[in-house]
Amino acid sequence: MKAAVFHGSGVGLRIEEVPRPVAGPREVLVKVAACGVCHTDLHYLEHGVPTFKKPPVILGHEASGVVEEIGAEASTVKVGQRVLIPAVLTCGYCPACRAGRENICANMTMLGNHIDGAYAEYVAVPAKDVLPLPASVPLAEASIIADALSTPFHAVKNRARVQPGDTVVVFGCGGVGINAVQLAALAGGYVIAVDINERKLAWAKEFGAAVTINAAKVDRVSKEVKKLTGGGADVALEVIGNPKTIEEAFECVRVGGRLCVVGYTHEAVSLVAGKIMFKELEIVGSLGCRPLDYVPLIRLVEQSKIDLSRQVTHRFPLQELGKAFEVMKEGVSLRSIVIP
Ligand code: APR
Repeated sequence: MKAAVFHGSGVGLRIEEVPRPVAGPREVLVKVAACGVCHTDLHYLEHGVPTFKKPPVILGHEASGVVEEIGAEASTVKVGQRVLIPAVLTCGYCPACRAGRENICANMTMLGNHIDGAYAEYVAVPAKDVLPLPASVPLAEASIIADALSTPFHAVKNRARVQPGDTVVVFGCGGVGINAVQLAALAGGYVIAVDINERKLAWAKEFGAAVTINAAKVDRVSKEVKKLTGGGADVALEVIGNPKTIEEAFECVRVGGRLCVVGYTHEAVSLVAGKIMFKELEIVGSLGCRPLDYVPLIRLVEQSKIDLSRQVTHRFPLQELGKAFEVMKEGVSLRSIVIP
């Protein structure tokens, strides 16, 4: 089969012919319908972030497809079933899993990181992890539920805990951030979207932002947010992964408010500890989502409360995966999917 194989940071991806995986006894072999292209892959390709599996490794962690073969003990899933493949697979028995917090599983396995991923024609995954997709949900577009939607769903609902009427500032309106905007608005929040790209801000408006701020055009975003909210937002979400924007998001939060860090950075961030104490601020991180979050999320898509097709702005065949990273870097895409 054809797959996009990562050979290390700076070396990049090569589309190669590799052996088709074989489903183990408790696994299913999924024929990949589409795989979303995430900024995390760019961290591996260009920013020196290592994959857990030593390259070569097939990247891609945001996939949907159709079950092609089932293992001898994988009776829960049927051949021909349309499925979503979660980006991260969990062990089910570590303390975090036992506490219902599988998204921080001690033994988590991420596709296209710990194990071969879905920039490929086929991928083998445990049968217990795949989620059935209703017939009304478009199969290829559904791939982005696996990360671009599930990550902000957990962030907005479980970690930032957005309530109706909350003022919510979202830093970063890319593939993940646009859904933080969409889901925070759906939760009843008054959403202030922040980006440096006018196109992204226009999309943010379409997806439910009440107000937008171009961070490149104002002195301090926090000053603008304080003006708009009368003293600061109830909740700030950072969905970029930049120490400076994490610091600015922190400054946007009102007394008793909450900062939720969704973007990834390996760099240190400088926050005034006295403000955390004196304003009783909460700072929470958010990583992926729990398996149980997928069911209500898929239901929201099925009910058309969340629009998938408008946010899939680009489609590429696997051979042109490189172009998806180009449009991401140019800032002209919201989410690209590759169709193997
Ligand atoms: N201020 C405001 N917005 C910014 C800034 C800044 N200084 N720098 C970048 N942005 C915006 C970009 O214009 C873009 O719209 O942040 C957005 C990032 O979006 P994407 O590149 O599409 O990245 P995405 O896939 O959404 O991932 C964002 O979440 O899951 C993590 O690892 C992922 O850290 C990454 C983050």
